[in-house]
Amino acid sequence: MNILILGSGGREHAFAWKFKQSKLCEKLYVSPGNAGTISLAENIILNGFEEIGNFCINNSIGLVIVGPEEPLVNGIVDYFYNTETLKQIPIVGPTKAGALLEGSKEFSKGFMEQYHIPTAKAFKANKHNKNEALEYIKTMDLPIVVKADGLAAGKGVVICKSYKEAETELIDMLDHAKFGEAGNKVLLEEFLDGIELSVFVLTDGKHYHILPTAKDYKRIGDGDTGPNTGGMGAVSPVTFADAVFMQKVEEQIVKSSIAGLLNEGIDYKGFLFVGIMNVNGNPYVIEYNCRMGDPETEVVLPRLENDLVELMLATHHQKLQEHTIIERSGFCTTVVLTSGGYPGNYDKEKTITGLQNVVNAIPFHAGTSIKNETLQTSGGRVIAVSAFGNDLTDALAKSYKAAAAIEFEGKYYRKDIGQDLMLVQ
Ligand code: AMP
Ligand code: GLY
Repeated sequence: MNILILGSGGREHAFAWKFKQSKLCEKLYVSPGNAGTISLAENIILNGFEEIGNFCINNSIGLVIVGPEEPLVNGIVDYFYNTETLKQIPIVGPTKAGALLEGSKEFSKGFMEQYHIPTAKAFKANKHNKNEALEYIKTMDLPIVVKADGLAAGKGVVICKSYKEAETELIDMLDHAKFGEAGNKVLLEEFLDGIELSVFVLTDGKHYHILPTAKDYKRIGDGDTGPNTGGMGAVSPVTFADAVFMQKVEEQIVKSSIAGLLNEGIDYKGFLFVGIMNVNGNPYVIEYNCRMGDPETEVVLPRLENDLVELMLATHHQKLQEHTIIERSGFCTTVVLTSGGYPGNYDKEKTITGLQNVVNAIPFHAGTSIKNETLQTSGGRVIAVSAFGNDLTDALAKSYKAAAAIEFEGKYYRKDIGQDLMLVQ
């Protein structure tokens, strides 16, 4: 069958790489894709749901995968379901109502409270209860987490070390549109002290499977310092997420989340990404995302031995119970090479060389393009190099060797991916 992937990052390159291994995959398209997806698929520019829908009809697309959150939050899945000529086409991703779990932190907090899913205590602030919110801040322990409600490109969370800072952030978001409309509502949240991991659930709305766990490294600097990024590297599996911990995750979080969605009448066929904080061995939900993570996908999909096309079709047809997830043993790690300046203003159009010297690793392209037949950088996160190993040390050595082999002006990467997990292997 012909398959269309929407998106342009390392996550989408990893999907393309995995789909290409399926006997069910005929022609593969990625919109818009990057220089890496060109070797596996046809890159195509499609603007807007209508153009995407028409493309699917004209090219006999039998499966659509939506990589990033934005089209989901904007209702691409509803558009397919509600359009006569498109409703038969399997599209993986939640409807707009389901994507609200990522699109609105207030909604997701309310959802967790209603279904007794462990999460940080929070006050829901807006312009009308601002004074009450300012009073509430005074009752909180430090640090205080201030979160803009809507999508803010990963920047809408501020961890405040003083009451003054929390008050200023709240007022900046509510009154001065610091994050635009995303900050019309704000959560004031208790700080959870622990270690984070990403749990990915694939659900068809009735059944679910938990995919391999991953840990992402979000800050730009070694030792988790400096500003937040989209993610600087990832490791799978997560050493501390042992059977006892994962049983708690499944019982306390996954089951209630899927049951809650069903109870709300939300049609959710896709990936549910649960960002979890492990606080002294107990899991708390930090956030939900309605898609796979990036760069986590670049370590999760390589560890999945199943035919991903089969799993995607089973998701659409609500037949996930007929499958079991088969995880490759050992570790997979990825190190993200970024452009100088990222996550602030970064350089572009720098020539990339050395890919032919990458051995024992998979370079998943993110911000790359081809201009005048030359491979060059076009985004902040440029390439994620993934590698397998029997243990973490082995996988990381291969990822880092590949990271050193690829060259472009201003190349930067974290040197400590996975180090925090070494002790608990
Ligand atoms: P989010 O956009 O909700 O994923 O938040 C971004 C990052 O802020 C998370 O990955 C956490 O590292 C941190 N964070 C968010 N909420 C909390 C919390 N309640 N306690 C501690 N850290 C948090
Ligand atoms: N790596 C975190 C995310 O995809 O949101």
